[in-house]
Amino acid sequence: MSLHIDKKQITLSTLNKMKANGEKFTCLTSYESTMTSKICDAGIDVVLVGDSLGMVIQGHDSTLPVTMEQLIYHLECVVRGNKGAHVMADMPFMSYATDDMGFENATRLMQAGANSIKIEGGEWISKMASMLSDRGIPVCAHMGLTPQAFNRIGGNFVQGRDPEKREKIILEAVSLEKAGAAMLLLECVPDSLTKEIMSELSIPVIGIGAGPSTDGQIMVVHDVLGISCLEKLPKFVKNYMNESHSIQDALSKYVNEVKSGVFPSTDHTFY
Ligand code: KIV
Repeated sequence: MSLHIDKKQITLSTLNKMKANGEKFTCLTSYESTMTSKICDAGIDVVLVGDSLGMVIQGHDSTLPVTMEQLIYHLECVVRGNKGAHVMADMPFMSYATDDMGFENATRLMQAGANSIKIEGGEWISKMASMLSDRGIPVCAHMGLTPQAFNRIGGNFVQGRDPEKREKIILEAVSLEKAGAAMLLLECVPDSLTKEIMSELSIPVIGIGAGPSTDGQIMVVHDVLGISCLEKLPKFVKNYMNESHSIQDALSKYVNEVKSGVFPSTDHTFY
C-alpha cells in the first residue's frame, strides 16, 4: 500500500487554467526529497529547486557560488520526493551566459526531471527564452530583484520605485512574454508595479515580495518554517511555525493562506 497521496501532475496548462479561473497557486523552494514529499502533502502546486540553496543549504552569503552539478544533484533529490507538483529548476549564475551554455544547461536540467527552468534578467534573456521555448522548454523569467546580479544592483532591495526603472521593468516583462516566456517571477517590487505588469501580461505571474496581486506566491521553505539564518528577515517573509504545532501544519497553513488570499497581507507588501 502506498502512503503517497495521489495528486494529479501539475503542468503548465494546469497553472494557466488556475490563472484563468482566478485561482491562486502555491509555490515553495525545496532542495531535498523528504521536504519535497511533505510540501506535496500540503498541496503545493510548484516546487522550485532554487539557487537560494547556495545560501540556505551551503551557507554562502549569495547564490553566485552554486554550480550546475550542485543544482542537478538537488533537483534529482527533489524529483525523487515529488508527488505531482510542477518542478521548476533554477539556472545557476553564468550557466546561461551564452546561447550554447543556455541550451546545454537547460537540457541537463530537463533531463534530470525539471518541468521548467528559471532564468534571471530582463531584455537580454528574451532571445534565450525564445530559443528554449521553441525547443520545448518552458521558461520562467525572474525579474525585479534578481539576486544573481546583486553586485551590479548594489544590494538586495526593492526594485522599480523610480519611474525610469519601473517603466523599464514593465517593457521588459511585456517583451519577455512576447519572446515566449511561459511564466514570470517578480521579486521585491512595489504592489502598484505588480498590478501594472499583471494588467499587461497573460502568462502566469509568481510573486515574492511583490504583493497579493500575482497569480502565484513563492517563499523559501526555510523562511516559512522559521529557520532562516538571515539576521534580519525581509518584510515579505512570514514564519508559519509561530502559529503551528508541526512542520506539516505550517506548510498547510501557508498553502491555505495563499489560496484564500490571506497571504501576503499589507504587512508583507512593499508600497
Ligand atoms: O532561488 C530561489 O529560491 C528563488 C526564489 C527566492 C524565488 O529564486
